[in-house]
Amino acid sequence: MTIAAFGAIHLDTLAHADRAILRDTSTPARLTTCPGGVAANVARALARLSPPCALAGAVGRDSDGDALLASLRAEGIDVSRVHRSDHPTGRYLALHDPDGGLAAAVVDGTITDALRPGDLDLAHPALAEADLWFLEANLPQPVLAQIAAAAGHRLLAADAVSIAKAPRLNEVLGRLDVLFCNREEGAALLGHARAGPETAPEEDAREIACALVALGVGACLVSDGPAPLALATPDACLHLAVAPAPVRDVTGAGDALIAGTLAARARGWNVVDAARAGLAAARVTVQAQGAAPATLTWDAVIRESATIATPVS
Ligand SMILES: Nc1ncnc2c1ncn2[C@@H]1O[C@H](COP(=O)(O)OP(=O)(O)OP(=O)(O)O)[C@@H](O)[C@H]1O
Ligand SMILES: [Mg+2]
Repeated sequence: MTIAAFGAIHLDTLAHADRAILRDTSTPARLTTCPGGVAANVARALARLSPPCALAGAVGRDSDGDALLASLRAEGIDVSRVHRSDHPTGRYLALHDPDGGLAAAVVDGTITDALRPGDLDLAHPALAEADLWFLEANLPQPVLAQIAAAAGHRLLAADAVSIAKAPRLNEVLGRLDVLFCNREEGAALLGHARAGPETAPEEDAREIACALVALGVGACLVSDGPAPLALATPDACLHLAVAPAPVRDVTGAGDALIAGTLAARARGWNVVDAARAGLAAARVTVQAQGAAPATLTWDAVIRESATIATPVS
């Protein structure tokens, strides 16, 4: 099974300061740049775990866009259908204190917000031949709707991205085979689906997952950092424990959970075992720096997922 990911493709600049970030003056720091954005991170992790992966979204006609595409291509991702936009390439800037904590972050995702349904060439073989499509709520609602409508027989998976953007998935919920969200995003999506822009009263991840399945999602995975992952399907509502790990950097943990789960689904694993593979991929990722670290391999996922207990409902 091959996979295509649709969504944000950013150039991330990460600053790691040598003292607590100071607000009114410059703080000495090490700066690194790397690809980012949910869809790009999921594609990078998939490229490490899985059969061929294509990525669609937008980058600018600028040197940042050229550099991003070259870097993603070198990681084995098919970027031939990435739209070149007149907007500047999306950027994310994070300032980290010496303990790794995030002091501040800003993002310019105008280029993704400006995507229109005609910009993505869904009929092109690079995308059309994929058996599983993954989309994420950085995309504008009309583009999400277009992709969901064109998905046809394919497996369709989605990530809710943030509390603010999660409600964009509202109108495609009934078409989703798999939905990934964290607890807060799930509550926001549920509240919006029921009543408008309000948070749902449910606080338990399992209740949120079950309620989203009741709205038509095929399987819903609700993560909660180091707390258990909730997994609901029409037949089951489970908690899967997150195995403790020496955490180095939680960047990309949610994206690795998605990539591990989808890579296992693409290999024909059932949804519960696929979620265990997702947890294994997240566990490998939090122990290394950045999303899609070199330690994230299918062998490592197999090894780690054997240590993740089979859940009981
Ligand atoms: N502190 C942690 N210790 C161990 N595992 C963690 C930790 N934080 C996250 N994880 C793993 O990563 C998975 C996803 O994490 P989380 O719920 O924080 O995702 P998220 O909120 O979508 O984050 P993001 O999208 O910013 O990566 C969790 O289910 C867990 O398996
Ligand atoms: Mg997330």
